[in-house]
Amino acid sequence: MKIILIAAIGKNNELGKNNDLIWNLPNDLKFFRQNTLNKTVVMGYNTYKSLPNKLKNRKMIVLTNRKIDDEEIITYKNEYELLKNEYKEDLYIIGGEQVYKTFIDIADELYITKIDATTKADTYFPKFNETNYNKQIIDNNIENEISYTHIKYIRKNKLEKGKLISIEGTDCSGKATQTSLLLERLRKDNIKVSSISFPMYDSPTGAIIGACLLGKSYLCNEYFKDGIGSWFEEGANIDPLVAIDLYAADRRYNLPKINALLNRGINVILDRYVTSNMAHRGGMILDKKQRLEMYEIIKQKEYVLNKLPYPDATYLLYMPYEQACILKKNRQEIPDVVENDEVYLKNGEKAYLELANLYNYDIINCTNKEEIRKVEDINEELYHKVKKLIRG
Ligand SMILES: NC(=O)c1ccc[n+]([C@@H]2O[C@H](COP(=O)([O-])OP(=O)(O)OC[C@H]3O[C@@H](n4cnc5c(N)ncnc54)[C@H](OP(=O)(O)O)[C@@H]3O)[C@@H](O)[C@H]2O)c1
Repeated sequence: MKIILIAAIGKNNELGKNNDLIWNLPNDLKFFRQNTLNKTVVMGYNTYKSLPNKLKNRKMIVLTNRKIDDEEIITYKNEYELLKNEYKEDLYIIGGEQVYKTFIDIADELYITKIDATTKADTYFPKFNETNYNKQIIDNNIENEISYTHIKYIRKNKLEKGKLISIEGTDCSGKATQTSLLLERLRKDNIKVSSISFPMYDSPTGAIIGACLLGKSYLCNEYFKDGIGSWFEEGANIDPLVAIDLYAADRRYNLPKINALLNRGINVILDRYVTSNMAHRGGMILDKKQRLEMYEIIKQKEYVLNKLPYPDATYLLYMPYEQACILKKNRQEIPDVVENDEVYLKNGEKAYLELANLYNYDIINCTNKEEIRKVEDINEELYHKVKKLIRG
């Protein structure tokens, strides 16, 4: 899949005014039609609203946080949700300013109509570094006394891969909250970053874990109507070799989403990854030699056999069990079989610390002299560490 921007711009990168086009160039519109016919086009909500009619013979995708009442139009809340869908076909980005800005740094090709004129505008095409592209002049034209050139730009070098960052944590350490705060802050810094949470409960493999193994009531209701509690008699004590495969299958099944983002130069923050499997399964094995063997089995299974990429860094949010119990009293959600099991959680905690020591994870303490640290304070530490890693 390629990302291709197509735009008509003036001498000062002018794009539009009052949510309309500013140039009247019918042959250029023909050029746009020829290049996008039977293709998938992506646009922002304003551009969608500016169209007099739906674009015929094109699959239309609109980036918006609103609901569009038209079953033929696909919407995504942001570019990351779009890219996670690993489209096989090329995506033609057709504007406007906000959407061009979103994709300019991760585009493979640009079709630019360079118009030799200036005019008043309120939206502009973003500045881009032409030296990153090979330039091909397609044709020169004059229409309505305006001269313009169609130029194709092809990116010279492959995009640098995004960084893969895994956030692990003991019970009640606030992984999900920390991940979402981190994402928000990094995006404010104009860093391209997305997140994926495992198990991915909204995918079939994640739903199997959530409903059948963990007995999460809201998933049971959704998928199986009546069920509550684990479908496995053993619950948290399930044979680790069975559980490993369930969790590993979820990551393997959703691996294309991770790769689609990383290959596009987008950094990915993982809320839980392979280490969770190691800590949770390994934690149940009291014999150290056997536990270390289990870590190796999981590493082999997930990284070697299932070909998951190794994370560039793993951060362990460490909330000691005693403090986790205090926090748990305020939780709204009904605990699943694992969250209710004291022995399981204590063993998991030991395993996490052992893994951090073995594999050099960066431990972020969620307490300070037994006092629980503020969410913002923990996030400050995590944010600076991750930003440094991404910026290099
Ligand atoms: N010359 C050309 O080739 C050309 C081509 C296309 C458009 N245009 C012109 O460009 C102007 C419109 O540009 P514009 O910047 O105002 O609007 P736009 O990019 O078309 O749409 C902006 C809206 O789209 C949504 N959106 C954009 N990026 C998003 C993202 N990454 N994630 C989620 N939602 C996103 C937001 O809508 P919500 O608030 O609904 O979330 C945002 O308010 C018009 O004048 C149009 O005629 C010119």
